[in-house]
Amino acid sequence: MGLGLGGKEACQHVVFFLVGAALPTALLVLLASDRLGEGLSTISSSWGPTPTQLPASAVGGPPAQGGNTTLSAGGAAPTATHAQQSEFADLAELLPKVTTDDRTVIITSVNEAFARPGSLLDVFRESFRAGEGIEHLLNHVLVVAVDDAAFAHCKAVHPHCYLLEVKSMNLSSANKFMSEAYVELVWTKLSLQQRVLELGYNFLFTDVDIVWFRNPFWHMSMFADMTTSSDIFHGDASSLDNWPNTGFYYVKATNRSVEMLRRWRAARARFPPNHEQAVFNEIKHELAGDLGVRIRFLDTARFAGFCQIYHSDIGAACTMHANCCFGLSNKLYDLREVLGQWRNFTGLTPEEKSRKFLWKDPTKCGSPDKKNWSINP
Ligand SMILES: *[C@@H]1O[C@H](CO)[C@@H](O)[C@H](O)[C@H]1NC(C)=O
Ligand SMILES: *[C@@H]1O[C@H](CO)[C@@H](O)[C@H](O)[C@H]1NC(C)=O
Ligand SMILES: *[C@@H]1O[C@H](CO)[C@@H](O)[C@H](O)[C@H]1NC(C)=O
Ligand SMILES: *[C@@H]1O[C@H](CO)[C@@H](O)[C@H](O)[C@H]1NC(C)=O
Ligand SMILES: *[C@@H]1O[C@H](CO)[C@@H](O)[C@H](O)[C@H]1NC(C)=O
Repeated sequence: MGLGLGGKEACQHVVFFLVGAALPTALLVLLASDRLGEGLSTISSSWGPTPTQLPASAVGGPPAQGGNTTLSAGGAAPTATHAQQSEFADLAELLPKVTTDDRTVIITSVNEAFARPGSLLDVFRESFRAGEGIEHLLNHVLVVAVDDAAFAHCKAVHPHCYLLEVKSMNLSSANKFMSEAYVELVWTKLSLQQRVLELGYNFLFTDVDIVWFRNPFWHMSMFADMTTSSDIFHGDASSLDNWPNTGFYYVKATNRSVEMLRRWRAARARFPPNHEQAVFNEIKHELAGDLGVRIRFLDTARFAGFCQIYHSDIGAACTMHANCCFGLSNKLYDLREVLGQWRNFTGLTPEEKSRKFLWKDPTKCGSPDKKNWSINP
């Protein structure tokens, strides 16, 4: 099948241009290494109060083992603006209200277009009520709003909303995949996730264009630092040959995972201009090798997406992601269809359910071999 499935929103590479991309990579690496010593200490102090759960040394200290200077340039991570630091300060007060009793929070994020009535946030929340015994998990979802209107929409329907301001970016319209604002946003989300880990909370990040059917925590590995969904799953959950989809992943709060987030963000400078998922795919071997991060991949049979929907069985499904899909209205259309199929399935008798039920092909979204992907499969 056509690969280019690195994108969590789509299965294509896009030609794009980002401020800063014009700088030769070599120069960025040089700057990064140059700032290493100072960078590490500034970034650790720049996140506001000293983390309460993890020792300070876990946050800004040198890589645990065999660190390579080009990897460790935490100071070069471009998203650590002062505005964000002050925003993140509120997290320490908010997270205790959101967390499960085992210190886990579910995080998603929305802009105005995703949060307005009838849009993705509604469908996302509706799926918890339609799902099997997962409605209570909604109480542990932190919705991160990236603009004021999204924050207002969120507060109207959801108990835990957090306003994350991404300065100088207008993120309120449905962002084009890989637009400058989109890229900035995904990196800002990583900064926030790092902060969550530093505060000692595990998190499950879920894109808001994912509907939930069953409790995903059954499938999160105790052993792994990170358990991620896949665009392409080859059958072996521990093989780094799988293609991660960082639209849905669980990270355990450990020293190693904080360092992983820090390196991931720092690696942005080595692979410009790119979004976080593509960079993660580039550095997954380094993270597993140098840092010893344990990464597990979720089977697309359960944690499904429109990219590989034909592998999925409704009877086993945990989630469905509207990936490989352009356009908010297309996502909404096909996600509502998916919820309709789920409801039909849950209405069946146990005998009827015992045979295998496959999802229908999405109508508006889908894998590149079925749809007209004008950009590049
Ligand atoms: C650091 O990593 C880069 C990229 O993986 C590699 O090219 C370089 O040789 C490494 N440097 C050292 C000192 O290990
Ligand atoms: C952001 O974009 C939306 C939609 O394009 C527009 O309605 C709004 O006025 C913009 N906000 C600012 C502050 O530019
Ligand atoms: C984290 O790292 C610090 C310093 O290296 C160490 O003292 C602590 O025990 C570690 N914590 C965990 C949970 O591994
Ligand atoms: C649900 O079942 C009804 C009745 O069989 C059918 O008409 C409808 O198309 C189904 N909905 C979906 C979304 O498959
Ligand atoms: C595919 O998309 C392109 C660009 O939108 C369009 O020009 C072309 O006619 C489409 N092809 C088919 C077979 O739909």
